[in-house]
Amino acid sequence: MKIVRSKPELRESLAAPRRSGRRIGLVPTMGYFHEGHLSLMRAARRECDVVVVSLFVNPTQFGPGEDLDAYPRDEQRDAELAQLEGVDLLWIPTVDQMYSEGFATAVEVAGDLTGVLEGEPDHRGPDHFRGVTTVVAKLLNSVQPDAAYFGRKDAQQALVLQRMVDDLDFPVEIRAMPTIREEDGLALSSRNAYLSPDERERAVAISRGLRAAERAAAEGATSTQALVEAALKVLRQAGVEPEYVEARSADDLSTIAELNGRPVLVAVAARVGKARLIDNVLITPAPEEPSDSSQEAPL
Ligand code: PAF
Repeated sequence: MKIVRSKPELRESLAAPRRSGRRIGLVPTMGYFHEGHLSLMRAARRECDVVVVSLFVNPTQFGPGEDLDAYPRDEQRDAELAQLEGVDLLWIPTVDQMYSEGFATAVEVAGDLTGVLEGEPDHRGPDHFRGVTTVVAKLLNSVQPDAAYFGRKDAQQALVLQRMVDDLDFPVEIRAMPTIREEDGLALSSRNAYLSPDERERAVAISRGLRAAERAAAEGATSTQALVEAALKVLRQAGVEPEYVEARSADDLSTIAELNGRPVLVAVAARVGKARLIDNVLITPAPEEPSDSSQEAPL
C-alpha cells in the first residue's frame, strides 16, 4: 500500500491505472477506522481494481462547539488496517492543502435534504452538510473514482451526496453500504471511543429503540408517529434523551404521517456523555419483506 500526502503524488499514482481503464474505488473517511470503514474498503476491494482511501478530518463540517480537536486520530493504526484490507493508496492530505489560502468556494445542496434532521439549526446545522458536500466534491475531483463508498449510518449524508452527484453530473456511482453493528446492536462509530463503560451500556438503547420502531411497523403500525413513540419509549426507559427521533420518507426526507407502503427512515441523534451519536433504520412496511430488509433497500 502506498501512502500519499500531496495531490500531485495522488494524481501521478492514479495516472497509469486510469489510462488503462481500471475501475477506481474511493472510500472517503475521517480515519480512526472501525469495522464500518473496513467493510467499505472490502466492498471497494470486491468491486474495483484500484482502492483509494482518503483520510481527512474535515474541519469545515464541524460546528463551533463540536469535537474537531478531540476527534480521535491514529494514523499509524489506520495505515496498518487499510494495508490489511488490501487498499492500494491511502491519501492523507493536510488541512492547508485542502483549503489553501483564499479558498472561497462551497458546494451546497439546498432545500429540505440538508435543512432537516442533522441539518436543523438546533442540531448540526446547515453548515455541516455544506462542509461535507464541499470536501466530498474536492475528494471526488482529486481522485476521479468510478465508485465512492459511504455508510448508511449517515443515511442523510448518503442522500445528500447522491443529490450532489446527480445535480452536478459527477461521473461516479455512490455506493451506500449497510451499517455495521456491535453484537448488541450499537452502530459502529469513531465517536463510540468517547463512551465510558456505563455510557456504552446506555448507548445501546439507540439501536434498541430503532428495533422497537421496526417491530411496531412489522406488527401493523400505520403512522410514523407510532414508530417514533416506540423508539422514544425505549430511549427514555434507558435514560437517553434524544436530540431527535424522526420518521421521514426515505426517498426525500419529507414528512409523512402514514406509512402507506412507502419506505420510511427512522433517524435518531442522541448525546450520551460526550458522544453525540446518530443511527437510523430503513423500514419498508410491505408484509412480504424480511425484517432485515432495512439493509437491502436502496437509499
Ligand atoms: O462520513 C464521513 O466520515 C465524512 O463525512 C466524509 C464523507 C469522509 C466527509 O468528510
